[in-house]
Amino acid sequence: MRNFSAVILAAGAGVRINSSIPKVMHKLSGKPLLEWVIKAVSFLKPDDIVVVLGHGAGTVEKYLSGKNIKIVYQEKQLGSAHALMQAEKVFENYKGKILVISGDVPLIKPSTLSTLIKNNKETGASVTVLVAEVKDPFGYGRIVKNNGLLEKIVEEKDATYVEKQIKQINSGIYCFDKNLWEALSKVKPNNAKKEYYITDTVAILKESGKKVSLTAIKDDYEIKGINNRTELSQAERILKDKKVKELLDNGVSIIDVNNVYISYDAKIGRDTVIYPGVFIDTGVSRGKGCIIKGTSYITNSKIGDESVISYSYVDGAFVSKKVKIGPFSHIRPESVLKENVKIGNFSETKKVLIEKNSKVNHLSYIGDAKLGKDVNIGAGTITCNYDGVKKHRTIIGAKSFVGSNVNFIAPVKIGQGVLVAAGSTITHDVPSGKLAIARAKQELKCRKI
Ligand code: UD1
Ligand code: CA
Repeated sequence: MRNFSAVILAAGAGVRINSSIPKVMHKLSGKPLLEWVIKAVSFLKPDDIVVVLGHGAGTVEKYLSGKNIKIVYQEKQLGSAHALMQAEKVFENYKGKILVISGDVPLIKPSTLSTLIKNNKETGASVTVLVAEVKDPFGYGRIVKNNGLLEKIVEEKDATYVEKQIKQINSGIYCFDKNLWEALSKVKPNNAKKEYYITDTVAILKESGKKVSLTAIKDDYEIKGINNRTELSQAERILKDKKVKELLDNGVSIIDVNNVYISYDAKIGRDTVIYPGVFIDTGVSRGKGCIIKGTSYITNSKIGDESVISYSYVDGAFVSKKVKIGPFSHIRPESVLKENVKIGNFSETKKVLIEKNSKVNHLSYIGDAKLGKDVNIGAGTITCNYDGVKKHRTIIGAKSFVGSNVNFIAPVKIGQGVLVAAGSTITHDVPSGKLAIARAKQELKCRKI
């Protein structure tokens, strides 16, 4: 869909969120609020996207750099109409429609925006306002009608008692034609907040004989504006509840739906069981028939079928099928765990490739390493990978057996079928098939009492 451009208003101080970070940079499910809005708008392929920045512009600007987005600045935050005026220079000879949306409505769907634009084109209105019926309209601008037709929008602080009872509210999302700019120039700050309100353009356009119209949507969650941390947390809840419902419908068991957090983008296969206390953050895909027990945190990881993770922290891992992790393991970025691998209690892995059937069952640190198939690592084994300046690798061949409490001083290479005696500190390579013992000999001396 083209022949329209979008302006995203994001200059407001966001006082109600009470933060040193600009409101639109607060994260919802791992992504800044502004990114959600940009994504929804971009989906419709507008001719241009303009973001109005002001409060905390530096931070937002940095985040926007490299993206195909135009930025204009509102020096003083004099209201939403004043913010929009700053974008006028970008659209001097532009004939298309102007979609205006606040940077704080992250849950909006592209399909709703496209319906709004389509309705605006079809009705030939100078402005079409996206509205919704809500149970609690407090804080929103109310849609005031006359003889069933849109008359004006009144803000909470300016509304009369009767107007406050209206449940149909302004979403803060509008589609304008080119008459927008003239209407904006007529807005006066005659209201409780002494601000230039974009909402006043509706009455201004109507009074000048232009057509104004509405597009009503049923799902009011979509237009939820985030003004404070309560609303931010409610938006997280909305996303999570939708995700949980989708997963339950797709054959995933969730033992206590109120006691898990699952990111909107998680992909989870059928017959996986999620226990209470599990936190699946962004970037996770899981296979079928997995079990995840709490309290586990998983992010940016791919987990194969029938794997079990219990009470563990998993970040940036590629896990094949039938792998067992935990209880109490820490799987760090670039850990590749092949089929049937087991990482047990209090073991940590980082930047490793561990081949099929190998086990790191207890209290070990395996980092910057490669383990062949069927390797057994005894309790308390450490790859000493860091010399204070550089990281070095440990390579252990297939079918090697490492006794408890072994230190591998990397770089070091252990062949296949090697037996490393418990308590060894391995400083040199060990060829395949050898038994390596590198520990002080036990001595017996007389005990003086
Ligand atoms: C606004 C609408 C209200 C609607 C609600 C929906 C106005 C006057 N009111 O109220 O009718 O129901 O959204 O969520 O618009 N902004 C600037 N510069 C400014 C002031 C605001 O860029 O000087 C931006 C903000 O960053 C924000 C948007 O305009 O993205 C709306 O401002 P906000 O203060 O959030 O308005 P609401 O009170 O939510
Ligand atoms: Ca708002």
